[in-house]
Amino acid sequence: MKLPTQRAGLLCGTPPKPVPPFRHSAKLRRKTIPPRSKNGASWRRRVTSVPEILAKRNLTRADIITLLAVRDIEDMELIRKAAEQTLLKYCSDTVHWRGLIEFSNECRMNCHYCGIRCGNKSVKRYTLSEEEIVEAAKWCATQGYGSVVLQSGERNDEESISFVERTVRRIKVETVSKALPLGLGITLCVGEQSPETYRRFFEAGAHRYLLRIETTNRKLFESIHPPSQRLDTRLACLRSLKESGFQVGTGVMIGLPSQTIEMLAADILFFREYDIDMIGMGPYIPHPDTPLGKNLKPTGTETKNRLQLGLLMIAMTRLFLKNVNIAATTALQALDPTGREQGLLYGANILMPQLTPSEHRKDYLLYPNKPCLGEDRSDCAECLAARIRSVGRKLGLNEWGDSRHSRKPDNKQSNC
Ligand code: 5AD
Repeated sequence: MKLPTQRAGLLCGTPPKPVPPFRHSAKLRRKTIPPRSKNGASWRRRVTSVPEILAKRNLTRADIITLLAVRDIEDMELIRKAAEQTLLKYCSDTVHWRGLIEFSNECRMNCHYCGIRCGNKSVKRYTLSEEEIVEAAKWCATQGYGSVVLQSGERNDEESISFVERTVRRIKVETVSKALPLGLGITLCVGEQSPETYRRFFEAGAHRYLLRIETTNRKLFESIHPPSQRLDTRLACLRSLKESGFQVGTGVMIGLPSQTIEMLAADILFFREYDIDMIGMGPYIPHPDTPLGKNLKPTGTETKNRLQLGLLMIAMTRLFLKNVNIAATTALQALDPTGREQGLLYGANILMPQLTPSEHRKDYLLYPNKPCLGEDRSDCAECLAARIRSVGRKLGLNEWGDSRHSRKPDNKQSNC
């Protein structure tokens, strides 16, 4: 089954046509319509309804597919409410902060979708100094954020590894206070590394690591990466991160060309299979300076569909995994000014205010329309606090905000 936009023939760049109501693929329709009865009685259509699925204790793969295909506003609201209730039951009403420092856009990778890929020669490359990163982290601690994310493009040379290691050690020591006796919680997001490097980062004091799988579908993964970048390497890295002791985060892009709803459902099942603690995922946004994005010009309908699907992915991941942390990512806000609030309402519980010095933000454009480009870090924090209040949630201050999933001694859930 193609995504609704593709089914409607609305490929990027083509003139908009009216979107027909979303229908399941023939295969899925057959599953939900029982065969003709023995006495030849008329067909009785029995499609499992959204409330029926939501009332189930354990969702199946087919249920996830059915709910990801929903576009009816009332059904979306039912799913949203169920996801919100699951969040409140298995986590809390607190939104946790992670101050985001994009400390370098140097990258050895050449992902076909990403604006800072090494092949994009129009990017002005930068790396913050150790001092600048530690200063930003200290500011984060004094604001009561509790956790910081250090994110960069990918490098795996010894100079960059020991730079990260040293910086993490310094942040741990220099952010200790009465309010944060163990210093800031540190999440790293610096890509594919060797098991030895992961061990070094963990020993230095980082305790969470984000590495997006992007898609678990092998063919799709290969179509959006050069041959040297392999799905198996990423899977091995995720396993190695767990073995090193990290709480592990991953995620996917939503609305990639030729991605189907079945593929996205498989991604959610994968999160459980790999015992993932944190999810960061968002809509794919075509970048004009990339091979994948250069000819794609999404129409308004496509953008709306991608946003809806992004929100449903958050809700379905919440309903299926229950106690993981899920970020309301900036990519949601790039599609809609209220995208992140909507993400919170659909079951997300993490927000990442920007701490990257404003003069460098325009050089860390993974995708166009990235929000908060011109804002100062205080503006960014205030704006996010207002967003949290606007959806009736509490703000988690001076805490690491680890996922409940990572805390439970037996964190395997039995559903499915
Ligand atoms: N659209 C949306 N997300 C993107 N990322 C990179 N490029 C894009 C894009 N064009 C995401 C990838 C990557 C993360 C750092 O940013 O998922 O892992």
